[in-house]
Amino acid sequence: MQELQTILDDALKSFAAINDAVELENAKARYLGKEGSLTGLLKGLGKLSAEERPAAGGRINQVKQQIEAALHARRESIQQNALQAKLAAESLDVTLPGRNSSAGGLHPVTRTLERIETLFHSIGYDVAEGPEIENDFYNFTALNIPEDHPARAMHDTFYIDDQHVLRTHTSPIQIRYMQAHMEKYKHLDAMPDIRIIAPGRVYRVDSDATHSPMFHQVEGLWVGERVSFADLKGVIADFLQNYFETKDMQVRFRPSFFPFTEPSAEMDMSWKGGWLEIGGCGMVHPNVLKHVGIDSEKYIGFAFGMGVERLAMLRYGVNDLRLFFENDVQFLKQFN
Ligand code: PHE
Repeated sequence: MQELQTILDDALKSFAAINDAVELENAKARYLGKEGSLTGLLKGLGKLSAEERPAAGGRINQVKQQIEAALHARRESIQQNALQAKLAAESLDVTLPGRNSSAGGLHPVTRTLERIETLFHSIGYDVAEGPEIENDFYNFTALNIPEDHPARAMHDTFYIDDQHVLRTHTSPIQIRYMQAHMEKYKHLDAMPDIRIIAPGRVYRVDSDATHSPMFHQVEGLWVGERVSFADLKGVIADFLQNYFETKDMQVRFRPSFFPFTEPSAEMDMSWKGGWLEIGGCGMVHPNVLKHVGIDSEKYIGFAFGMGVERLAMLRYGVNDLRLFFENDVQFLKQFN
């Protein structure tokens, strides 16, 4: 049967040319499907005589088996090809360096705080701490900011309840420290000097490129029998020169107002040909000393407060305060 041979050749040729599983199944249908050419021949067997039928049927079946075998082999090889391609695409270069677990590091604000603490430590200051949720007395009243005093409006305060706030500055730490100091040395005739810095988180309702609702302050306090405004200027100037590692640093004091200091001043430092405000300061108000039981006739002191982020921004050249609190590792890892 010439026709059978043609069908077989044709099937083998077309299978060999196909490289896609779906196409292969379509091709199969052309020969073995309901309308397939080979199926057509099988259907035609009925028209043959009883003598011719077995031999013809046998030959058709033989060709059918050959086509099926070819189909099977082609299916296998298409599958193999697909697998090889997939493996090649997903190949893994085991010689590449692994993904290291990266080491953590200190936050730039923490580094700045540590630097500030080290510098003040070197001139005899202790580091004092206190709670971030403060009561009204420590955050305001003891600092000579009585209830209903307009100075309370200077701080945009987060209130917890009537009596408690998120501290708006670290000055309450100084009140707590002075109280404890007085208790500790009450048996002595003269009180040893108090020399502390009070670093920590503070909170105000404020948010933009230079303000964050949470930020850090470092305040300083020196109380003794002979402490003057000149000492204050010396300490601040010395600190800034050491912090920024330059002797050229100029410091300027402008008259200002704070309820807890009298006189009060804003501190500016020279920066790129101009002046930059870095904090407030002044001589501790006698009312503050009275609130903690220190004789304001005998003792005098100065206090100052600075923004830690401001100092970090200047030292590291960061222009947006919010970067410190977004936890972007690309930003943070530059400091380690
Ligand atoms: N506590 C003040 C503030 O947060 C800063 C300051 C401290 C001013 C000490 C003067 C003296 O605004």
